Amino acid sequence: MPRPLDGISSIKVKLSILIVAAVAMTASTSQIGVWLGWPVWVRPIVSGAAALLMVQFLARGMTKPLRRMADATTAMARGDYSRRIDSNGRDEVAQLARSFNAMAAELAETDRLRKEFVANASHELRTPVAALRSTLENLVDGVGRPDQDTLARMLARAEHLSTLVGQLLDLSRLDSETDLGETHPVDLGDLVHDVADELTLVDPRCRITVRAPFDLKVDGQTDRLRQVFVNIIGNAVRFSRPGEPVLVTVTQNNGSAGVAVRDTGPGIPAQERHKVFERFWQAGGMARTGSGGAGLGLAISKQIVDQHGGTIDVRENKPCGACFVVTLPRRQRAPSSTEGDTSPPIH
Ligand SMILES: Nc1ncnc2c1ncn2[C@@H]1O[C@H](COP(=O)(O)OP(=O)(O)O)[C@@H](O)[C@H]1O
Ligand SMILES: [Mg+2]
Repeated sequence: MPRPLDGISSIKVKLSILIVAAVAMTASTSQIGVWLGWPVWVRPIVSGAAALLMVQFLARGMTKPLRRMADATTAMARGDYSRRIDSNGRDEVAQLARSFNAMAAELAETDRLRKEFVANASHELRTPVAALRSTLENLVDGVGRPDQDTLARMLARAEHLSTLVGQLLDLSRLDSETDLGETHPVDLGDLVHDVADELTLVDPRCRITVRAPFDLKVDGQTDRLRQVFVNIIGNAVRFSRPGEPVLVTVTQNNGSAGVAVRDTGPGIPAQERHKVFERFWQAGGMARTGSGGAGLGLAISKQIVDQHGGTIDVRENKPCGACFVVTLPRRQRAPSSTEGDTSPPIH
C-alpha cells in the first residue's frame, strides 16, 4: 500500500515535513481547544496526542526497511541469503534497501558457486583416489600383481591428482590476491618459443609454428604467463588433428600485444564459448571420461590474464578448429623510433 511520503526522495525533507506537520497539528488543536473552552490542562494532552497520531501516520513505513535489513543480516549470518527488502520508496533508506538486495543477490551467487566448486573439486579428487585405493587393495590382497602396467597406471593417477591439487592451490592463491604484485619485463616472443619447445620436448610428434616479432615486451610475471600459454597451446596440441600444426602468432599494436593460438581440432561450438572459462567446464564432459585435465586450466588462465590487465577470448578458427586470443597491455616505456610499428620483423 502506498505511504503518504513515499514520493519524496530525501529523508531530510521527510523529517522536516514531519516536524512542521507535528507543530502545525499541536498549534491548531490547541487553538480549537481555546475556541471550544477546553480546560487548560486538557489542551496540551489532546494536541500532543493529535501530533503523535499525525507523525505515526506520516512516518508509516519510514524505518521498516531498516528493521527488515537487520533481520535479513541476522539470517545471512546463518547462511540464508534468500531474504529481500521491499524498496518501493525513493529516499535514501529505499536506495540502501536496493543496494542491500543487490549485495544479497551477489552473496547468494557467490555462495552457490562456492558450493558448486567444492562439490566439483571433491568429485574430481575422489575419482582418482578411489581408483588408486582399489588397485592398492588388490595388490595388498594378492588379487593383482605389481607389474609394470599396473604401476604405470597408478603413477598416471598420482600425477593427475598432483596436477589437480596444484591447480586448486593456484586458484585459491589467485582468488586471495588483490593485485599482481611485483612485475618484470617479459618478452612475449621468447616466452611462446620456450613454451612451444617445452611442449615439443614432452611430445616430439606435436607440431607448433610460432610467428613472433623481436623484442615485444609486456609487464608481468613470467611464470604465470608461461602457465597461460602452456595451457592454451597445450590444449591446442591436444585437440588438433594428428600431424596438423598449431599456429601461434604474436602481434603488437600501439598499446597492446596479442597472442593468437589456432588449431584444427573440433573447435568450441558458438553456444558453449561463454562457458569455456568457467571452472571445471569441459566440452561434453571430456575429462570425466578420462582424457586430459579437470577443466581448470582456462579458468586459471583467465584469472592470470585478468590480473595482468589483459583479456582472453575464444573464437572460431576458419575453416575449422579453435582460436584462443590473449591480449596484454604493452610494457610502458619512453617513446622510441620503433614505437607504434605494427609490422615488426618476425623471428
Ligand atoms: N583448443 C581447443 N579445442 C577444443 N576444445 C577446447 C580447446 N581448448 C579447450 N577446450 C575445451 O575446454 C575445456 C577446458 O579446458 P581447460 O580449462 O584447459 O581444461 P582441461 O585442459 O583440464 O580439460 C577442455 O576440456 C575442452 O573441452
Ligand atoms: Mg587445459
